[in-house]
Amino acid sequence: MSAEKNGQDLMKKIISLCKRRGFVYPSSEIYGGFAGVYDFGPMGVELANNIKAHWWRVMVQNRSDIVGMDAGIFMNPKVWEASGHVSGFSDPLVECKNCHTRSRADHLLEDVGVAADEKMSDEEINKIFSKNKDKIKCPKCGKQDFTDAKSFNLLVKSNLGDFTQSEADPVYLRGETCQGIYVNYKNVLDSTHLKLPFGIAQIGKAFRNEVTARQFIFRTREFEQMEMQYFTRPENDMQEYEKLKEYRFNALLDIGIKKENLKWSKHENLVFYAKEAYDIEFKYPFGWRELEGIHARGNYDLTQHSKACGQDLDYQDPITNEKFIPHIIESSIGVGRLFLAVIADAYEEEEVEGEMRVVLKIAPKIAPVKVAILPLMKNKEELTQKAKEIFEELKMHFICQYDETQSIGKRYRRQDEIGTPYCVTIDFDSSKDNSVTVRDRDTMKQDRIKIDDLINYFKNNL
Ligand code: GAP
Repeated sequence: MSAEKNGQDLMKKIISLCKRRGFVYPSSEIYGGFAGVYDFGPMGVELANNIKAHWWRVMVQNRSDIVGMDAGIFMNPKVWEASGHVSGFSDPLVECKNCHTRSRADHLLEDVGVAADEKMSDEEINKIFSKNKDKIKCPKCGKQDFTDAKSFNLLVKSNLGDFTQSEADPVYLRGETCQGIYVNYKNVLDSTHLKLPFGIAQIGKAFRNEVTARQFIFRTREFEQMEMQYFTRPENDMQEYEKLKEYRFNALLDIGIKKENLKWSKHENLVFYAKEAYDIEFKYPFGWRELEGIHARGNYDLTQHSKACGQDLDYQDPITNEKFIPHIIESSIGVGRLFLAVIADAYEEEEVEGEMRVVLKIAPKIAPVKVAILPLMKNKEELTQKAKEIFEELKMHFICQYDETQSIGKRYRRQDEIGTPYCVTIDFDSSKDNSVTVRDRDTMKQDRIKIDDLINYFKNNL
């Protein structure tokens, strides 16, 4: 099987597992779905929360130089003009002249192996597009007749405050969370004791009118970003940039992603204000794609906002009294993109006694459930009562799930598929020897453990 076919096959399996086990559902499915939006189910919300908590711990709680904040999704529309989003936040769009399907020109080029990106001008992309037009087919009808590429703005408009605001001056849903940080930089500086260099971190929703939302939760129209903006003296920005690159790469390893599935990719086409930009790419089933962006943004953002709002956003050095606009380096990663990377990285199929076992070998620290408590059989009070007692005790220390439905084999498979590191089985000997069987997800090895030792056992192993 070709690598592409293999990848498509794996994506189908991942999407199916996500639905079957309550990780991710298509939005509004009973109404036929809603393109570009997905919902997290019971397991998905736990995993997403654990991913966010890990990021927050690494980026805020473990750092004395970084603080968190949480800005509103709606902002003064002038923010998006000053940031350059109203005029320049767009993707190149082409339309099939036969079936009128709209696609991203850079994606169609990518599909036929031609490098292009959304930062190119319409003129540049049209030149490459027409050079390769014999290879490019409409993904829907297969015809090869397209309109010229035109920039399509990605900001999502709302009708918030339409009674006061003219429609020509709409309130947008934020296209990236970092603007909420830039406009609060002065507030944070004035209300804390932070001195340069320091960072402000935020997790929150962002919205983009993506022309083609595709590849499951990789590219959606509503998504969550985890962004940190680090403010530095101008002469120190590249040194801090290198440190942040290393720090973020290690954070992804720490969440359990395999090193061989991560690589650096340098931006060749920099946006005009960027000094340098790198992506950390992950090897998704559909190929290497951007997981996280790490950008050196110079003093562009604060300069733009200072000019547009007419306020002084200079930093004053407390020792030399020198005044200047700090430079910014940022790290930005989507929750959904990391979620998909975590699942794809952890997904394994193994043959066990002639049967296929699907297992998510997620790092225990972010697994949705840490310990499953399983009485060997239901309707046997001596088993279920003991199992419930153990559940009541363990749930005070770990996220646990009690399950007495179906055969024990099926319950093990279910826990494997949601990535539960340990299953505790209560059998007929348990009340006699005060012990239970603990099964390890990855090795399937079973240990007999005294009930009184369970908390310590899991504390040591999780
Ligand atoms: N503040 C910088 C910024 O927003 P970006 O490269 O447009 O930069 C940063 O986005 C990250 O946000 C990406 O690396 C990706 O993880 C995530 N992201 C961007 N667009 C997304 C989308 N449509 N769906 C899911 N995640 C997205």
